[in-house]
Amino acid sequence: MTGVSRITLNTGASMPSLGLGTYKSPPEKVGAAVAYAVGECGYRHVDCAAVYENEKEIGAALAAVFSAQKAAREEVFITGKLWNNAHAAADVAAACRQTLSDLRLDYLDLYLMHWGVAFPREAPVSGGEPLRDENGVLITSPVPVRETWEAMEELVRSGLVRAIGVSNFTAPMLLDLLSYAQVPPAMNQIELHPYNQQTRLLEFCHYNKIAVTAYSPLGRAGVVKESGEGPVLTEDAAVCAIAKSHGKSPAQVLIRWGLERGTVVIPKSATPENILANSAVFDFCLSKEEMDELAKLERAHRYLDPYERWRVPYFG
Ligand SMILES: NC(=O)c1ccc[n+]([C@@H]2O[C@H](COP(=O)([O-])OP(=O)(O)OC[C@H]3O[C@@H](n4cnc5c(N)ncnc54)[C@H](OP(=O)(O)O)[C@@H]3O)[C@@H](O)[C@H]2O)c1
Repeated sequence: MTGVSRITLNTGASMPSLGLGTYKSPPEKVGAAVAYAVGECGYRHVDCAAVYENEKEIGAALAAVFSAQKAAREEVFITGKLWNNAHAAADVAAACRQTLSDLRLDYLDLYLMHWGVAFPREAPVSGGEPLRDENGVLITSPVPVRETWEAMEELVRSGLVRAIGVSNFTAPMLLDLLSYAQVPPAMNQIELHPYNQQTRLLEFCHYNKIAVTAYSPLGRAGVVKESGEGPVLTEDAAVCAIAKSHGKSPAQVLIRWGLERGTVVIPKSATPENILANSAVFDFCLSKEEMDELAKLERAHRYLDPYERWRVPYFG
């Protein structure tokens, strides 16, 4: 990986623009994926979450990479996420400490509120499955986002995390948060790819000095192809044509598209060839014409729409 780009958070910290995603990275594979990405391919950023149920395996891999001196802890940017069932003020620090213990770290570089929705404490983390009422509608817990955020601010003060942010926040949710935050959010991690570009939200975040991470940047290629649910972004004709003209793969073009827009991009892979290929995105650029071509692909398609599981029209 050459010339990895970085962004600067509103905390002043520097964050690598490319990270390894770990959602749906099976526990038996994720350790090897992280070890290969960080130890051999030059990745310096790993995106984790308690609900992915693989933090222990990631922690073991990171510990091995650090002890083999393939990378130093300070060089690797590690993000964690607070799951929805630990939003109550009394639960936030414990959830963060559990993640730190699983990841075998003494601090996180960034800790995100995974969703702006509180589940009851007893909702199982396993599989992220929520509790639903007799009509299949999500059972929520009456915890305001403000309570959760203020508890997360304490994590910064106590040194457990270096920065805090949110994920899946819309502009009105961010405006509300900004009205009281003592520590403003450093990041909003949202679904971004050419089929769901959210250009206005991106502009809004950047204007308010909130960095943006693009999740599902490949349109969840493997998962979608296997399930047949939704368009396969890596097979889009326009993406493929641009890839061909650069001698690159569709995935590399999609990652580059996110980098060109000033976002952090976190493609997930547990396949060594893909992990390596996804890091080879710093030796080419997309032209304005190519970005314009990709802009035409917008279709407000979400690969992850919580309505399907929660019956809450979170994004409308
Ligand atoms: N904050 C949130 O609510 C949220 C939600 C979703 C995701 N995320 C984060 O964002 C990360 C990325 O999103 P994602 O996992 O949903 O999807 P993604 O990164 O868009 O796609 C991952 C899929 O693409 C395949 N893939 C990877 N590299 C490829 C390549 N070069 N060519 C073809 N296929 C390739 C992977 O298979 P292989 O493993 O076999 O390579 C996997 O099936 C997650 O892992 C997670 O860390 C956050």
